[in-house]
Amino acid sequence: MQYKDTSDLEISLLLEAIYRKYGYDFREYSQAHIRRRILNRMALSGFEDIAQMQSMVLNNVPFASELLQDLSITVTEMFRDPAFYRSLREKVIPILKTYPFIKIWHAGCATGEEAYSMAILLQEEGLYDRTTIYATDFNQLALNRAKEGIFSNKLIKEYTSNYQLSGGKESFSSYYTSHYDNVIMNQSLKKNIVWANHNLVTDSVFAEVNLILCRNVLIYFDQNLQNKVQSLFYNSLINGGILSLGSKESIRFTDYFEHYSELDLKQRIFKKKY
Ligand SMILES: C[S@@+](CC[C@H](N)C(=O)[O-])C[C@H]1O[C@@H](n2cnc3c(N)ncnc32)[C@H](O)[C@@H]1O
Repeated sequence: MQYKDTSDLEISLLLEAIYRKYGYDFREYSQAHIRRRILNRMALSGFEDIAQMQSMVLNNVPFASELLQDLSITVTEMFRDPAFYRSLREKVIPILKTYPFIKIWHAGCATGEEAYSMAILLQEEGLYDRTTIYATDFNQLALNRAKEGIFSNKLIKEYTSNYQLSGGKESFSSYYTSHYDNVIMNQSLKKNIVWANHNLVTDSVFAEVNLILCRNVLIYFDQNLQNKVQSLFYNSLINGGILSLGSKESIRFTDYFEHYSELDLKQRIFKKKY
C-alpha cells in the first residue's frame, strides 16, 4: 500500500508495532477514529510526531496502556436508546421465552450498563433465572468497573428516565442501593452475569448463543473487520438466534446480510435464518 501522507504511514507502523508487541490489533479499525485518538494523545503528551511517540509506546508499558485506553471508547448508559429496549421487550422476549435455557452475549460491554439493563429486563419478564449473560470486552479496566456495578448517582436521573421510557415495570430505585455519591447495583442482578476479557478481532466464537448484543462497537471498525466480526457472530448464534446492533450499525454491507431476516430494522434487530 502507498501512503500519500507521511502521518498515515506512521500511524500504520505504530499500529503494527502495538500489535506485534502487545497483541492488540487495531490495524483494521476505522482510520478516522484511530487518527483522531492518536493525534490527541500525541498533543496531550507533547510529542512532535508519531514516530517519536512510537518509541515511547514500545518502551513504556504504562504509556502504552494509556494509549490503549484512548483507543477504546467506553461511553455507555443504562437502557441506552430506550426504544431499543422497548423493542427487545415486545419482539425478542417472546422468542426467548420459548427456550428452556438462554445464553446472551454482550460483545463490547464497556463498564457493564448494558448487561445490567438486560438483567433488569429479564428479571421483570421472569427469564433471568434460566439465563446466562456473557458480558465481554477487551478493556480490562472497563470490565473491572463493570464487575463492581458501582455507578455515579449523578447519572441516575437520566438512567431512571431511560428505564421508564423503555417500558420498565418497577421503580428503577428498587435495583440499587445508594452509597454516598454512588449507587451499587443489586447482587441479584449480578448472579448470572459472567464477565470475561474477549477481543472481537483476535479471539474465537462463543458457542450456541440465543441473543448477541454488539451495539456501538462496529462503528469503530473498517468494513473488512466488520465483515470478520459478523462471521464470528453468525457462527456463535443458534439458528433463529437474534443479533442486535447499534443505531448507526448495519449488516447490510457484509457477507451475512442474506442470512438474517429483519425483526426490527429501525432498532437494528435481526434474526438468523434457519
Ligand atoms: C462505545 S462502547 C459500547 C458499550 C455498549 N455496548 C453500549 O452500546 O452502550 C464500545 C466498547 O467496545 C469495546 N471494544 C472495542 N474494540 C473491541 C474489541 N476488539 N474487542 C472487544 N471489545 C472491543 C471498547 O473497549 C468499548 O468498551
